Amino acid sequence: MITFYPDTKTFKLDTSESSYIFRITGAGYLRHIWYGHLLHEHELDRLTVRDGRDSSVPGSSDPDPWFSADTAAMEYPTFGAGDFRISALEVKNPAGNSVTDMRYVSHEIYAGKRPIPGIPSTFAKDDEADTLEILCRDVTGLLVTLYYTAYRNLPVISRRVSVKNGGEGDMYVKNIASMSVDFTHPEFDMLGLWGAWGRERHPERRRLIHGITELSSKRGASGHYHNPFAALLSPECTEEYGEAYGFSLVYSGNFAIKAELDSFGLTRILLGISPDGFEWKLEAGEEFYSPEALTVYSDNGIGGMSRAFHKLFRNHICGSVWQHKTRPVIVNNWEATYFNFDDDKLVSIAKDAADLGIDMLVMDDGWFGKRNDDRRSLGDWYTNEEKLKGGLPSLVSRVNALGVRFGIWFEPEMICPDSDLYRAHPDWALHTEGRGMSISRSQYVLDLTRPEVCDYIVGFMTNTLSSANIEYVKWDFNRCLTEVASLSLPTDRQGEVFHRYVLGLYSVLERVTSAFPNVLFEGCASGGGRYDPAMLAYFPQYWTSDDTDPVERISIQLGTSVVYPAATMSCHVSASPNHQTGRRSKLETRGNVAMAGVFGYELDLNRMTDDEKETVKRQVEKYKKISHIVMDGELYRLIPPTGDVAAWEYVTENKKEALFTFVAINARIAPVYFVKLRGLDPNLTYLDDFGNRFSGEALMYAGLNLTRGWRDGDSVTVHFTAEE
Ligand code: DGJ
Repeated sequence: MITFYPDTKTFKLDTSESSYIFRITGAGYLRHIWYGHLLHEHELDRLTVRDGRDSSVPGSSDPDPWFSADTAAMEYPTFGAGDFRISALEVKNPAGNSVTDMRYVSHEIYAGKRPIPGIPSTFAKDDEADTLEILCRDVTGLLVTLYYTAYRNLPVISRRVSVKNGGEGDMYVKNIASMSVDFTHPEFDMLGLWGAWGRERHPERRRLIHGITELSSKRGASGHYHNPFAALLSPECTEEYGEAYGFSLVYSGNFAIKAELDSFGLTRILLGISPDGFEWKLEAGEEFYSPEALTVYSDNGIGGMSRAFHKLFRNHICGSVWQHKTRPVIVNNWEATYFNFDDDKLVSIAKDAADLGIDMLVMDDGWFGKRNDDRRSLGDWYTNEEKLKGGLPSLVSRVNALGVRFGIWFEPEMICPDSDLYRAHPDWALHTEGRGMSISRSQYVLDLTRPEVCDYIVGFMTNTLSSANIEYVKWDFNRCLTEVASLSLPTDRQGEVFHRYVLGLYSVLERVTSAFPNVLFEGCASGGGRYDPAMLAYFPQYWTSDDTDPVERISIQLGTSVVYPAATMSCHVSASPNHQTGRRSKLETRGNVAMAGVFGYELDLNRMTDDEKETVKRQVEKYKKISHIVMDGELYRLIPPTGDVAAWEYVTENKKEALFTFVAINARIAPVYFVKLRGLDPNLTYLDDFGNRFSGEALMYAGLNLTRGWRDGDSVTVHFTAEE
């Protein structure tokens, strides 16, 4: 619910669990008052009175003598007009300076939520959320609109901003955050998800100290290194207790999340497109839209925050028909064959897949051009008929004849210098004249700011997907952007290339996914290198990491789950010893770990022993029985994978079923383990797969007794079902 109180000019946005309050000051500033637990009152000015100041703090034109933009809690801080902390908005005006100030003009409140032109964002029906739009103006004629959507049944507020040149000369947007929040609390820890290739999204918590802390990417993609997510935690916040504020940017390119603890005890956090290398020209009348930023409030710790993000991303970001459908169990041939396969090999994997109950074969990299290794042919998207005799239609019908569905791999945004495409269109790669081009994995990045390049991608994907019964696409992206410039844009628009690339990508994804609405699209970027909420608008599932080692995967998957639901995490059982770490592990455990997400295989089924095949068959059967719990259930991270054991649990919304997993990562002699389950109904009686009966209260308050002789790498997954 969103309310405006005209007497005090106060806005109050209430979600299911949080309140967000700000007001218009006498001089038209937007002054932030409160963001936190749901409150019934709105007269809370006393919370934000900040008379801590010294002689270097400037005053302002506000009638409130205590008001200074430098110390006040500001709703959307601008650059150059008295607020010296990190700013959300900086626009160079026709006079050539970047002084940016904005004052309230008008506002509108309505039910529901409107989309952002050209950028994916969360969606909500009229009875699910309410939106407030506030128009502000700078003396230069710059018009700034702040958008706020408060979800009614989730503790989620969505924010975004648009700026319009309502003046006469050219303006340049140099920095535009999608959201800024000022907290009058001085004590916060900040939680981020850092990583690298093969070890994505590891949670890291630090105390915010005076000054600025930044998590960002300048790689042209959200990337492996920092996810576009951060949380501010009260110092006492734990997995299940205490206050957590989560922030997530719905964007796939360069981003920056900055937090500053100022000298008077205020903590500011802002997130948006990274201002590094960014400058967007606004001619008179032109408008620029920021991507969306989301904030979640939880007073049930980090776990409560995660579960709110999960509900949001399960129901409000992806419109694919696959979003709520049972996903196929896949076998992907990448780790089975790498580039060394032909049609007969794929068909023989498909034969085993059919026998084991696996639904789909995905043909990975290497099926096109002269792609027998990773040094050539990206861009040449025609079938290599030496490998696939009879072409795609023949292969797909042979696989389908076995009762197995077929999926295919693309890396559409790339071009190899050794490709027919590059020989024909060297100007289609991002580069700047007179400067060398950095090569990475023998490939360059296509210039998606150019409409003809976008059309080319849509064209070859349309042709390939129409040529055979292809029901799944893995969309890969294996390098970051360098020498970011476009020959198609004038010099004063080169600062737009990073963002225009992302807009080009979104337009291509929109066109391809809507032309093939029944195809299941899975995202990938050297594993989980572009795993962000905007990608989830097109990809109901994402390849979580190239590291398929089960021990590593526990950390990666539980880290990913801090923000993203299991339904988005593609998790495969691979061979032992593992190709990335060399670790030997039990097939049982590889299966139990992969069942924490969208389950599949990534190994050569033909090489498995009969015993192993029996195990795979049982795993597939089991996953099909429990997948609804993982896909739609609530996650509880019970024991973090930082010690000898790890445990987690999914519970269905009606609390009638739960899936519990325990892994003994490092075996200890004579250990004692009682693991308390969470989220069950204490009044129900649950049966496990072995016919044992437990009361919900015993499972939650006494715990499951797991004291036994665990061997290294052992694990167990238990399915609890409430007795009727
Ligand atoms: C990187 C992906 O993450 C892998 O799964 C695989 O598809 C390779 N690319 C293929 O080149």
